[in-house]
This record gives sequence, structure tokens and C-alpha cells, in this order.
Amino acid sequence: MSSTVFRSVAAGLSVIVVAGAITLRASFHPTSPNLPQAKPPDALALYKLHCQMCHGANGNAPMPEMAFVERDWKHGTSSADMAKIITNGVAGTPMMPFKNKLKPEQITALAKLVRSFDKRLKPEKS
Ligand code: HEC
Repeated sequence: MSSTVFRSVAAGLSVIVVAGAITLRASFHPTSPNLPQAKPPDALALYKLHCQMCHGANGNAPMPEMAFVERDWKHGTSSADMAKIITNGVAGTPMMPFKNKLKPEQITALAKLVRSFDKRLKPEKS
């Protein structure tokens, strides 16, 4: 093997080793979502992904039956009431259940976020 070939093989191998080390570091990183100390769910990102197309940005849907801002709440005004609706949906309406799509802690975070869009509701004691 000429020394040039050897050098390029060696360079290639070191790239693989470095890439492997980065992958390993990433999978053992403490903020990995698989670990118990994972950071709390990003409610706004979840909202944009799953809810905003109906309920509007920051709950400002143009249709009053879907807006959260100044809402005439039908199913209760506590975040626990809202979490129940998000979990089970409202039969016969476009509000579908999310229990198979979202984890309970994500639903709790979404309920708090959605509630916060209606500024007339007093903040809940945590
Ligand atoms: C396909 C449209 C659609 C999507 C997507 C949707 N919703 Fe709804 N949602 C509705 C409609 C329509 C209602 C009104 C149901 C009714 O008449 O009781 C509703 C009602 C609700 C209520 C109860 C409001 C009240 O008056 O008590 C909550 C809370 C809620 N949605 C949260 C969410 C959250 C959080 C998401 C995302 C995870 C979401 N919704 C996704 C259409 C949608």
C-alpha cells in the first residue's frame, strides 16, 4: 500500500471514529427525551403542531366556536376540565381525542397554555 493510500484510509477511519463519538455523546446527553430528567414539554410547539389549525395562533381562531380568546367555555374553565376535553375530545364535533397522540404531561401543559389564552380567566394556583 502506498503511503498516500494509507493516509487517506487512516483519515477516513478517523472521521468514522469522530462521528461515532459524537453519536454516542448525543445519545447519552442528559437532555435526551428518553431520560427521566427530560425537560418539560414545549406546549407552544405542540399547540402549533396539533391545535393551531383549528383554534388559531394564540387561540385567536376567527370562528367563535373555536377561539379561546374571550371564549364562552362549554366544558369548564379549570385546566383540569380542559385536559379532560383534550384527552377525550368532544363527540360529534371536530374536537378529536388526543389520548393516543399525546402523553398525559403534554396534555396537561397544553391545557394550561390554552387556558392562558383567555385573559379573562384568573390564573390558577399551581
Ligand atoms: C379539527 C379541529 C380541531 C383541532 C385540531 C383541535 N380542536 Fe379543540 N376544539 C375544536 C372544536 C370545534 C371545539 C368545540 C367543541 C364543542 O363544541 O364542545 C373544540 C373544543 C376544545 C376545548 C374545549 C373548549 C370549551 O369550550 O370548553 C379545548 C380545551 C380544546 N378544544 C383544546 C384543543 C387542543 C389543546 C388541541 C390540540 C391538541 C385541539 N383542541 C385541537 C376543534 C379542534
